[in-house]
Amino acid sequence: MYFVANWKMFGNLKSINTLDKVIKFSKSKEIKKGRLIYCPPYTLITSFFKKFENCLIDIGGQNCHESDDYGAHTGFINSRMLKSIGANYVILGHSENRIKGETDKLINLKIRSAIKAKLKVIFCIGETLKEKNSGKTNSILSKQIKFGLDKVKKKSNIFIAYEPVWSIGTGKIPKSKELQQTVEFIKKKFKGKLPKILYGGSVNPKNINDLTKIISLDGFLIGGASQSSKKFIDIVKKTFN
Ligand code: 13P
Repeated sequence: MYFVANWKMFGNLKSINTLDKVIKFSKSKEIKKGRLIYCPPYTLITSFFKKFENCLIDIGGQNCHESDDYGAHTGFINSRMLKSIGANYVILGHSENRIKGETDKLINLKIRSAIKAKLKVIFCIGETLKEKNSGKTNSILSKQIKFGLDKVKKKSNIFIAYEPVWSIGTGKIPKSKELQQTVEFIKKKFKGKLPKILYGGSVNPKNINDLTKIISLDGFLIGGASQSSKKFIDIVKKTFN
């Protein structure tokens, strides 16, 4: 099971001290089959990487530019740069970036450049509340998958993170039955080897027991709760209990 911490635009050098608990936990038997991945802001990737030197916790970026070459793109970094500083993962297609204008086409270019740089891609998809209420969830997910993964032949480095937009940061999670159906629907979109599927949106130690009832999920993408080592560890522990 994968537990991905998305720190979004939070954290500073002092936050690194909070990782001691997680590092200790990652070396204990309690981690069981949990794999931990931290996606801090770019400014902290190198420090996190160094901090995790002697443990198995992995690092990822939260976005990247679509070009796999260097270039005059002020304020951006590309997938190769992420890889070169120790990241093995990148989150792409997050709804917080889609809302600012990232299109399926742009996300597709980013995914392809990340795969080329040998990064594993955490590809976020999800419907808004309006889309959900008008019964469009499946068609929205289909569209995001179809265009996002256009010309991506090898899916083994793709993780699909199903994050309903209405669930992010709201404390609301989908009903178990609905979530199970959506996960099944996503799986049916793929032939042959299935990508791993994560759920994201208000995952916390209180609701994790409900979420772990969803069979065929391969893990969780965790925002707010992942900034607290205690909550993050609790989520992992409860998943296996
Ligand atoms: P929250 O866990 O804070 O709802 O955020 C989810 C998310 O957007 C992770 O990518």
